[in-house]
Amino acid sequence: MALREIRTMGDPILEKKSKPVTAITERIRELIDDMVDTLVEADGVGLAAVQVGVLKRIIIIDVDEDESNPIVMINPVIKETSGEQDGYEGCLSVPGKTGMVTRPDHVVVEFMNEDMEPVTMEGDGIFARCVCHECDHLEGELYVDKVEGELRDVEKEED
Ligand code: NI
Repeated sequence: MALREIRTMGDPILEKKSKPVTAITERIRELIDDMVDTLVEADGVGLAAVQVGVLKRIIIIDVDEDESNPIVMINPVIKETSGEQDGYEGCLSVPGKTGMVTRPDHVVVEFMNEDMEPVTMEGDGIFARCVCHECDHLEGELYVDKVEGELRDVEKEED
């Protein structure tokens, strides 16, 4: 298990556009393994490669509430969106903050899996929100620019 450092807002790499993955090399496999470890350790719901400093179009979504079930998406493209949802969003690159963002309520996303086979998935709610948020990272965009109203401090959960 290898953890990678999560870049935070202010790091210029987060504003850069990521490049498509053309082949699964040993380096890419290692990156994906490390991203999964880093996401699980951080207890997040999504992570893009740029957040660990690599400008490749790879995102990981892990939105299952009960157990970790990371989905690796290589070169993801959102093909369809519908509906609308409002909700508080956060980002591992913007620690301690949250803000209201309107997102589609349903997305259809196409991507390659780790064997470079094409996959189509669709989903709504948190899945749709997370796919949109992570795909924005690949364009160098952070959710903070989409927040309606104020970016707020996350309230500490009481034990
Ligand atoms: Ni994020």
